[in-house]
Amino acid sequence: MKRKLRLEILYNLYRLQWLGYEYMQPIEIQQSSRDLPDDLEELKKIVLECHLCDLAKTRKNVVFGEGDPKANLMFVGEGPGATEDETGRPFVGRAGQLLTKMIENVLELKRSDVYIANIVKCRPPNNRVPTPEEVEKCIPYLWKQIELIDPKIIVALGSTSYRHLTGDKTPISKIRGQVIDFGGRKLIPTYHPSFLLRNPSKKREAYEDLLKIKELLCEFSS
Ligand code: URA
Repeated sequence: MKRKLRLEILYNLYRLQWLGYEYMQPIEIQQSSRDLPDDLEELKKIVLECHLCDLAKTRKNVVFGEGDPKANLMFVGEGPGATEDETGRPFVGRAGQLLTKMIENVLELKRSDVYIANIVKCRPPNNRVPTPEEVEKCIPYLWKQIELIDPKIIVALGSTSYRHLTGDKTPISKIRGQVIDFGGRKLIPTYHPSFLLRNPSKKREAYEDLLKIKELLCEFSS
């Protein structure tokens, strides 16, 4: 939300309080990615100050995303966990360490060569799945990140990411590894690293998905 608009809203709330109002129905603010700035740093400033949903009340840090702002490859997770909330950086906890190994050891890239973001930018308490309302408020930020970074390949990490990116409810076990046309980009769903930590026998399938991603990346850069 623009600083000026926020100040105007605050001013009017104080005025109503002064007039004796004690309670107001929540105001519905729905933003669209079209209203967001065409500059990643400007976008980040707005996201860091976001209070559009209740996750803002419990978060320690907003986790905007990080990596090469011109990356060909973008990973999209579900939402920050405890370590990400502490540090303000995506995928830095145990699942993040596994994701980093996948990027470095299988794709043979540096973590800083790709971009890593999430469906929601603030930690859902107790690592619960974000609600549809929270996603609705937050996802315009991701659409704008995708538009600005313009990756050729997007990897949806896990079912929540895949479902909110595409609207498709096919289970991740059925859709993983498929290359899906995503408005001129390629989208490849695979297992979430947290799931792989709990189910190490699935790492083989994730490895195959990564090989496919590597092959696609080579096609784009040749
Ligand atoms: N899980 C996610 O989905 N995203 C993170 O950033 C960390 C863990």
